[in-house]
Amino acid sequence: MKKILMTNFAGLNLINPIIIGSSGLTNTPEKNIALEKAGVGAIILPSIFEEQIEIQTHRAIWADCPNARNYILNSINEMQLEDYLKLIQDSKKLCRIPIIASINCYRENGWIDFVRQIEMAGADAIELNIFGLNTEIDQPADSIENIYLRITQKVKSLVNIPVIVKMSKYFSHIVKLTDDLQKAGADGIVLFSRFYQPDIDIHLMQTLSGYVFSSNSEIADTIRWTSVVSARLPDVSIASCTGIHDWEDIVKCILCGASAVELCSTVYQHGNELIQAMNRGMEEWMSSKDFKSLEEVRGKLNFGEIQDPSLHERIQFMKYFSNRD
Ligand SMILES: Cc1cc2nc3c(=O)[nH]c(=O)nc-3n(C[C@H](O)[C@H](O)[C@H](O)COP(=O)(O)O)c2cc1C
Repeated sequence: MKKILMTNFAGLNLINPIIIGSSGLTNTPEKNIALEKAGVGAIILPSIFEEQIEIQTHRAIWADCPNARNYILNSINEMQLEDYLKLIQDSKKLCRIPIIASINCYRENGWIDFVRQIEMAGADAIELNIFGLNTEIDQPADSIENIYLRITQKVKSLVNIPVIVKMSKYFSHIVKLTDDLQKAGADGIVLFSRFYQPDIDIHLMQTLSGYVFSSNSEIADTIRWTSVVSARLPDVSIASCTGIHDWEDIVKCILCGASAVELCSTVYQHGNELIQAMNRGMEEWMSSKDFKSLEEVRGKLNFGEIQDPSLHERIQFMKYFSNRD
């Protein structure tokens, strides 16, 4: 095994920076060992939703609202909690690379204790995909950020394994929130999660779900904020996510300051064979530039040298638009 691509994300030593993002790509131990053989650095299991944990651990309470319970159960592919723990255990038995559990959550309530069982099942880390669409007019913006912080703090107080927070990009001050999350105990930050994309069928006059896979153009926000956060908060361990489709994209993220990347759409679209090509592409590029380790590459092109990244971005923006007729 070549060492040139080794990295550390959120306290986990990885043979290379490629992490398979939480999704159906990782929902069986067999798929996970195949991904390991294909050459990935770590795996994030599909998310278990806090509603699933709540319904299964607090059956008595949910029995009082059968409509809500049935609505949720019909909307998600019900994975029993025991099945989730078994997926962790069986993946750990087969794989040597880190296996990271994932919880999709948005409230600070009864589901949180389940993280202890995840740790006991052998997960190497927990990723929290904290996601809620905030639509209530009387909910102040900082209360939403506080939920992120309180969930992180609480989970961190219950387990000893690393806790990773997968952040949404829809925050007004991403750098400040990342700093607060690190202070709340987050060992790693993922920039960014990708929301479910709505669409509208104007002929059927219906709302629909949009295209499930990202496009390569979505990498722009990923590299911008990886670059800014890495410059402002050099101690934060970052995994870039969303819109990363080939080895060149991975190199861009590392240059901006990421320690790792989380991939999903491109692996769905091109299969596991892509992983080897990505590792080879990164290695060849590093050799051509005489880099001996990924750490030498990391952050080389982040906003560190620029006094005021926001001014830099405004100037780029002015140049971009004023040179167009
Ligand atoms: C089919 C599918 C299932 C997904 N399931 C989850 C999930 O269970 N939990 C989660 O945090 N993200 C989930 N995601 C989001 C991915 O982990 C990833 O954050 C997103 O696709 C952006 O990365 P990409 O541009 O490489 O696709 C899913 C994505 C896809 C396409």
